[in-house]
Amino acid sequence: MSDQYTIVDGAIVGVLMGSKSDWPTMKAASEMLTQMGIAHECNAISAHRAPGRLADYCKSAEQRGLNIFICAAGGAAHLAGVVASMTHLPVLGCPMAAWSLDGLDSLLSTAQMPRGIPVATFAVGKAGAVNAALFSAAVLSLNDDAIESKLKAFRKAQSENVDVLD
Ligand code: RP5
Repeated sequence: MSDQYTIVDGAIVGVLMGSKSDWPTMKAASEMLTQMGIAHECNAISAHRAPGRLADYCKSAEQRGLNIFICAAGGAAHLAGVVASMTHLPVLGCPMAAWSLDGLDSLLSTAQMPRGIPVATFAVGKAGAVNAALFSAAVLSLNDDAIESKLKAFRKAQSENVDVLD
């Protein structure tokens, strides 16, 4: 079924979103992963519109050696929870501000996982997308010196560029 999703050789992070309409936000996660030197693949696979495809993707991703899933969804956002139900790997949830409630619906749907299946939930929108990528870098840096260097360089530059009032 791999003709229905994108596979990147050597990817260690899988960025999933419920719809192509989430891409303008999740592009920020992909760009940060690239900046951190993290091989990743991005796919739009809806948990409720294409559950079979999602199950197949999760199985294939584990077999191919992915370490982390970043899952973005809006509305009654169940994508991250469904992925977490199918893998023991870390699942990072990114709530999208979809068509109503400014993303509060997706924030609660992603964060309020019942006991036993965790989803680490980030802020609504681009801030959460970028932070999910940075959190992935932090986890992967435990076993990867190159990612650790890039993450530390990013943090150093960010500190040096903090605005000060004149
Ligand atoms: C969710 O519904 C998606 O993650 C998206 O945030 C939202 C709207 O999807 P579309 O109707 O734009 O495809 O499943």
